[in-house]
Amino acid sequence: MSLLSIKSLSLTLGGQPILRGIDLEVEKGEVIGVIGPNGSGKTTLFNVLSGFLKPTHGKIHFKQTDMTGMAASERARIGIGRVFQNFGVFREMTLEENVLVALEALPKEQRLVLGDLKKAVHSTLKLVHLEDHAKKKANSLSGGQMRLLEIARTLVSGKELFLLDEPTAGVSPKMTGQIADLILTLKKEGKTVLIIEHDLPFIQKICDRVIVLDVGEIALQGKPDDVRHNGKLKELYFGADPTD
Ligand SMILES: Nc1ncnc2c1ncn2[C@@H]1O[C@H](COP(=O)(O)OP(=O)(O)O)[C@@H](O)[C@H]1O
Ligand SMILES: [Mg+2]
Repeated sequence: MSLLSIKSLSLTLGGQPILRGIDLEVEKGEVIGVIGPNGSGKTTLFNVLSGFLKPTHGKIHFKQTDMTGMAASERARIGIGRVFQNFGVFREMTLEENVLVALEALPKEQRLVLGDLKKAVHSTLKLVHLEDHAKKKANSLSGGQMRLLEIARTLVSGKELFLLDEPTAGVSPKMTGQIADLILTLKKEGKTVLIIEHDLPFIQKICDRVIVLDVGEIALQGKPDDVRHNGKLKELYFGADPTD
């Protein structure tokens, strides 16, 4: 079975179908882009995967375990990392302290494997190119740097599946490049990433596969190049060409 297996997933809210029969198998180490017009259900899908919303129908398995009825905290414990926009970071703490808090929250056995926590903090900050800012408070970071710090915290907290909702929104082109590099580093380390993103060149650079949601259904999926050049993509965006 795949790392993440989603079967016939549906969600109805207030009589309104929001997700409709989603089937998706995600293999370990895959980076999958989730695109689609505004309101098509992308964020809702992440809410269902991370346990903030319970599906009306369907099953979700993660590492062979049925997690359909699991609470969000339990899903986090088994390795699902939702990266929130400017939410997970402690703004009044330094970057070092932010990473250290995530490391100290690990179960003791995992902490022991890391050895010297100070070194682990340093190598984590280095991985996201923030080592020069180690002593600064998180609230002095740019939006893009904050995003990198959040991904780093998710990484050191031992998560295996990363759910990233528009990580490049409002971020400079340089920072967008660094986020892309970091996602490719995660992939190399065997992590699995689902990423909601509007920026198609970004998606093409980092994703193995793209799924396109439209009114709560997977309307199109495939390799990034094939999806980008599929005529149906333009139709889905109601004439607004996302490749412009
Ligand atoms: N808590 C909720 N209650 C009712 N409707 C919701 C709720 N959350 C989202 N929706 C609706 O679900 C649809 C999908 O929203 P969303 O997942 O945020 O879309 P996307 O992230 O693709 O822009 C929208 O029509 C939105 O209005
Ligand atoms: Mg959204």
